Amino acid sequence: MKRILRAASPVQPIAAVVTVALILFAAACGGAPEDTEPAPLVGSSVGADLYQSNCASCHGADLQGTDKGPSHLSIVYEPNHHGDDAFRSAILNGARQHHWNFGDMAAITGLDNDEIDDIISYVRAEQERQGFDQ
Ligand code: HEC
Repeated sequence: MKRILRAASPVQPIAAVVTVALILFAAACGGAPEDTEPAPLVGSSVGADLYQSNCASCHGADLQGTDKGPSHLSIVYEPNHHGDDAFRSAILNGARQHHWNFGDMAAITGLDNDEIDDIISYVRAEQERQGFDQ
């Protein structure tokens, strides 16, 4: 029984591979040429908007800081040093001045948990995209 199955099978996988390859080829060629690649999704745009309206005035529209607050691209804010909980806490409770000389950060009010998560995802995506300052 086994021997018959083995003897009969070699052609079929090849046929299957060829068929799949032809289908993929046809699909690749059939795509409308005017379709452009969608822009890579960098964080969520909701997070980006919330960051701009709640954080950028001190931390900078590009996350690189202002004269009122530090850059979130400082290596100080990489995920292992300031994890997501540190971001959550800073938003909910504020942060005492301790790394820099900008003064304290006041709590940011009016954001729900989902919005806070969106902001953190956005910051992490930007940290990855732009890289950290040293
Ligand atoms: C009014 C200015 C201001 C605004 C607005 C602001 N921050 Fe800050 N933030 C600061 C300052 C100043 C510090 C630095 C404190 C220090 O010396 O470590 C800071 C520190 C932080 C820290 C580090 C906290 C820690 O544990 O060391 C995080 C995280 C942070 N901010 C996130 C945010 C996010 C997210 C937003 C928007 C939702 C935001 N901040 C809005 C001024 C601000």
